[in-house]
Amino acid sequence: MQSSGISSARTASPRVLPSARYTRTAVWFHWLLGIALLGQIAFGFLLDEIAPRATPERSGVVNLHKSIGIVLGLLIVLRIVWRLSHASPPWPAVMGEMERRAARTVHVALYVCMVVMPLSGYIASNFSRFGITFFGFAWPPWGPPLPSVYAFFGLVHVTTAMVFTVLIAGHVLAALKHAFDRDGVFGRMLNH
Ligand code: HEM
Repeated sequence: MQSSGISSARTASPRVLPSARYTRTAVWFHWLLGIALLGQIAFGFLLDEIAPRATPERSGVVNLHKSIGIVLGLLIVLRIVWRLSHASPPWPAVMGEMERRAARTVHVALYVCMVVMPLSGYIASNFSRFGITFFGFAWPPWGPPLPSVYAFFGLVHVTTAMVFTVLIAGHVLAALKHAFDRDGVFGRMLNH
């Protein structure tokens, strides 16, 4: 239901019809989780700067990272459930087949990272004697303290964080290209 060159009073861009835009809920989920996940990635990579290992502040800061990560994990579950029951708008006609395939691949990979990030952190933490203190409430670990299992899921956590960062950078660059091209694709994820 979209074609280039058609304008509408409601759309910010002349090339995408309202029916081809993301819904208000999709837009909220996108920006809320996008910004929060960027913050959480930065928080994770800066943990050693904020509270160096073996300092009294370390445990509180790592547990804040865990607590925020769990809340984000729950929001990600909600987002995925919602997304599975709500189809995305069709690709705009300005996007060629290769571009559509690249966008689809990156979007799926972003969702995979969104699942693996909190899950790997959660599982790793349960194979450590520290467990999780969720905003002040101690959750005793359900697994035994196994350093090799902790190290494996910790490696998954940090590797996925790096892949996630690269994917987000590519996603943002592609979005900016659409914004500069003024082809209406960027506006699909903006206002309503
Ligand atoms: C939801 C998204 C999450 C993101 C984007 C994220 C991101 C990160 C990043 C970038 C690091 C630094 C990795 C490194 O350089 O070593 C990190 C470390 C860590 N994260 Fe997460 N994390 C998330 C959720 C969680 C959750 C839910 C938990 C546990 C419940 C968790 C537990 C940890 C732990 C234990 C570390 C290592 C801390 C240490 O080295 O002492 N993370 N995280």
